[in-house]
Amino acid sequence: MGLFKKKKTVDIGAVPTHIAVIMDGNGRWAKKRGLPRSAGHAVGAETFRTVATYCKDIGVRYFTVYAFSTENWKRPQEEVDALMDLFRKYLREAADTMAERGVAVRVIGDLSVLPDDIMSLIHETGQIADGLGPDAATATLCINYGGRDEIKNAVRALAREVQAGTLQPEDITEAHIAGRLYTAHMPDPDLIIRPSGEIRVSNFLLWQSAYSEYYFTDTLWPDFKTSDMDAAIADYNRRQRRFGGV
Ligand code: IPE
Ligand code: IPE
Ligand code: MG
Repeated sequence: MGLFKKKKTVDIGAVPTHIAVIMDGNGRWAKKRGLPRSAGHAVGAETFRTVATYCKDIGVRYFTVYAFSTENWKRPQEEVDALMDLFRKYLREAADTMAERGVAVRVIGDLSVLPDDIMSLIHETGQIADGLGPDAATATLCINYGGRDEIKNAVRALAREVQAGTLQPEDITEAHIAGRLYTAHMPDPDLIIRPSGEIRVSNFLLWQSAYSEYYFTDTLWPDFKTSDMDAAIADYNRRQRRFGGV
């Protein structure tokens, strides 16, 4: 473990600093097999573990996944409960293995409404992640995350500072806003992958994705393999990012 870096199977070129994934298609994967949706989530969670480890092995510094949106509470209670159980399982596993694996697991989103035991697990993993130091790769789970909700919270924070007299409205810069998002300590994603054939953003990283490259694939998330990640990175490397320049 850790002695040998896994070899890349194909030459995928330079590795992006920050890759984000909208982990979608778990329900359809299960339906195709006549299984309950929760079975799709369980396999999707395994895919997360495999792909997060692979990203760390090939040198991706930040790997961020959309695991539960602010809109996903609309789903049947049974499905929400199954997802919360998976968060419990994977956070416990992260707490136990993070130091050995060298990946700092962090959670972002509006965590205040999550069950108390999940909040404690998030706190515990956060403390272990802090102990790994700044050189560790980071895997971030977005739970009860919504891009609009995040921006609303940043606006509230700035409004409070203006009200307290510590900030003037005309002094507010883009950096002030970015600095009050959940992702304040991360670079913006270079590449955002959405599996399952849906071609929409679904409220993910709205501010941070201003100049991200998108990659869409019909593969359902539970079927997503490290070779799909290679294909996404290779595609990313064929693009020319201009950031509005020439
Ligand atoms: C993504 O898979 C996981 C979550 C949104 C929690 P879905 O559950 O949305 O799967 P589909 O889109 O119904 O196939
Ligand atoms: C986006 O997927 C949220 C996550 C993957 C966590 P959804 O399945 O909730 O998105 P929509 O409803 O198809 O836009
Ligand atoms: Mg979906």
